[in-house]
Parts: sequence; C-alpha cells; structure tokens
Amino acid sequence: MHHFQYVGGKLMCEGVSVESLARKHGTPLYIYSQNTLADHFGRLDSALTELDHTICFAMKANSNLAVIRTLANLGSGFDIVSAGELKRVIAAGGDPAKCIFAGVGKTEEEIEYALQQGIYSFNVESEPELVRINRVAARLKKIAPIAVRVNPNIDAHTHAKITTGTYENKFGIAFEQVEGVYARASKLKNLRLRGIQMHIGSQLTQVKPYELAVKKVLPLVQKLASKYSFEFFSVGGGLGVVYDPALESGSPAWWKTAKAKNILTPSSYAEKLVPLLKPLGLKILLEPGRFITANAGILVTRVEYVKRTGKKNFVIVDAAMNDLIRPAFYDSYHEIVPLTKKGGAKISSDVVGPICESGDIFCKNRPLPKVGEGDYLALLSAGAYGFVMASNYNARGFAAEILVNGKNAAVIRARQPVEEIWASEKIPQWLK
Ligand code: LLP
Repeated sequence: MHHFQYVGGKLMCEGVSVESLARKHGTPLYIYSQNTLADHFGRLDSALTELDHTICFAMKANSNLAVIRTLANLGSGFDIVSAGELKRVIAAGGDPAKCIFAGVGKTEEEIEYALQQGIYSFNVESEPELVRINRVAARLKKIAPIAVRVNPNIDAHTHAKITTGTYENKFGIAFEQVEGVYARASKLKNLRLRGIQMHIGSQLTQVKPYELAVKKVLPLVQKLASKYSFEFFSVGGGLGVVYDPALESGSPAWWKTAKAKNILTPSSYAEKLVPLLKPLGLKILLEPGRFITANAGILVTRVEYVKRTGKKNFVIVDAAMNDLIRPAFYDSYHEIVPLTKKGGAKISSDVVGPICESGDIFCKNRPLPKVGEGDYLALLSAGAYGFVMASNYNARGFAAEILVNGKNAAVIRARQPVEEIWASEKIPQWLK
C-alpha cells in the first residue's frame, strides 16, 4: 500500500499536497512517503514472523540518510555494495553489525574498512575474493564472517539487465562449485563460514522462480549448514512491485486482488517460501530494495513546453534522464499523472526531458490528459533506483529530495547548486 492518492482532485502525499511542495521547493523534486516505507517494511516483516529473519534493505535502491534512518528505526539491516554505502549507514545511525556486503569487486581498502566496522557478513562472489578477505583479516588479526553467493542458474524471467542468477551473469559462484569452495574456505584460518547467500534477479513479479531456486539450493544449504555450523541463509532480494497501474496499486482493495491476479505479495511469497525455509532452523536474511522504496517515492516535474509536430505531441518537462534514468536505460514504465486531476479526452503524448539525447524520454505515445506550460506531472514509483542513479549529465544539478510524514514535510537533500558540479575540477597552470 502507498500513500499517494488524489483527494479532491489534488495529488496528496500522505497529508501534504504535492503541488504545494513543488511550488515551495521547485522541480524536479523527489518526494518520499515515510508511512509507505514503513508499510512496505512492516508487511514483509510480519509475513515472515514464523521465521527467525532479518530484512537487510538493499540500499543501492535508495540511500538517502533519512530513508536509511527510517528503516534503521524499524529494525532493518542493510545490504551494502561499497564502503561508501557502509559509511552512509553509519552516518544515518544504522548498525554495521546488521550489514551484509555484496558485490564482485570489493577492494582491499573496502574489506579492511568493513572488517574494522564489524559487519555481519561478506557475501563472497569468487575464490580470489575469499583469499583476499582472509589475507586482510589476517593482517588486522581479525576473523572475517563470510557467506558464499551461490549462483543457482535459475532464470528469473525479468529484464536482461537485472537478471543475476544465471551463468550468463557475473555474479556468485556456480552451484556445482560451491561445495568445493567452502571446503577450501574452511582451511583459511581467518574466515568464519557464517552462512550462504543467493539472489536471482530484480523485479520478480511471480513467486515461482524463488521457489525453484530455493528448492534447488536447499539440499546443498542443509548439507553445508550442518558441516560448517552456519548461522544464516540469505535468499536475496528482487521482490517486484507494480509499476502499472502504480496509483491504483496503492489502495488496500488492490492488495486484496493482487493475490488473485497471481502477483507477488509478501503473503504469497511467505506462503510458498516459509514452509521450505523454516525446517532449516537457520536465520533467514532478505535483501529487498525496490519492494520497500519504489512505490514510496515520486519524481515531480513541471511542463516547460508542449510541442506538436506533424506526428507527435511532445510534452517537454524539466526532469530528464539524468534525474531518472530507468525509462532510457531499461525501457521501464513509470506511470505519469498530473498533480491536478484532469478530465477531457486524452492525447497520445511523448513526455521528454531537455537533455540532448533522443533517449531522454519518459514515455512514448501514451494517452495523457491535455497539459500546458506550468502544469505539474508526477512520475510514480520513482523511489527505487531513481535518485541513486542520477548524474550531472548536461551540467544539471541533482534534484532536491523531500520526506513526508503525515502533515509534515522536510527537505532531506537540498537541490544541488550547479557550481558544486565543477567545484573539484581544476584548470592546469599551463592553460592559464
Ligand atoms: N541483493 C543483491 C545481491 C542485488 O544485486 C540486488 C539488486 C538486491 C539485493 C536488491 O534487489 P531489489 O530487491 O531491489 O530488486 N537499477 C535496476 C535494478 C538493479 C538491481 C541490482 N541488484 C532497476 O532500476 O531496475
């Protein structure tokens, strides 16, 4: 459930009018709903009460300090992929002891920092990485907790750029090799074999691929868990969200019908996976990113021009692919709605940004209400892989971010002044 709804024809985020925020803080503007974050976290958490479990939010989806703090306050751990993300957790008041460190390219410095902070586990993606972690731990006179990331070679049937669990992907260690890798790891003195991990992909809207992957790795997990006294099994993240229709999917009624429509929900996920996982007697970790934050955030933009060519109705807005790259990069769908509900006939429109790239498009040939200069639009489901993937392309400063809680709204990231973009650049003496 999410808290972006029309009330009296005006789009509201919880108890705050989105347009009032856009007028006050300017656009492009990211707005997040704190109660939606809490609702999503709580739904998943309570669906899994039968398991000893920890949700480790995959903060690559949204790493704003206020979002991290919201989730840390709810008891979340974090799935991190860099020392920078661990520093963010600490800056936000999160607990490093609830962090698991994934990624195929951890540097010596990152491993050292993570060991010093006392993270829960490294999710190891190759044998050379195991050797490196052992070496760094020995140097620091520490024991490094590790889990091997199993690549179960199961196709998650999602977008090619976000499938991770097949042998076409760079992630994890091939299923058939995992046992041998643990045997060799057990001989490395500065490692503690704390658990095992898998992750098959992102934006999974069906439970089936999870079920197949868990069933496939379960005998291996059981065998290794008793041999090496594992503490945990991480089943990864990837729980999908509804991008279309995003607005409608916020209503409680929709959640009731989701199950009937065979769309993954925390309860359908738990229904299939809890009976498989519970007999293991291990702590179960989950690494959801998108599920927690995607529908908890929107990107608000202002219409600058409407340009009709012979063929097209281009709605040119002030947000661009540098603010939200998902449509350009993955051809992904984000529902686009006006902040003030409009009646009348819909016009087939392309909503485009000002960047000088043909790919700077938010939607193509989409029936949208008639809009004009100065109208505001919201791109929905922009709370995951939105701001975090932003860039300064075309010397465009980062958008501001707002967190809403009930009737309160706070700036959680100020709009970036453009001068800051080149603040660390230098002109060499010989050019002066
Ligand atoms: N765990 C691991 C090891 C991962 O690689 C990922 C995501 C997650 C957890 C969290 O997945 P989630 O629950 O958010 O689906 N930028 C892309 C998504 C990339 C996902 C990368 N890995 C997008 O905008 O769709």
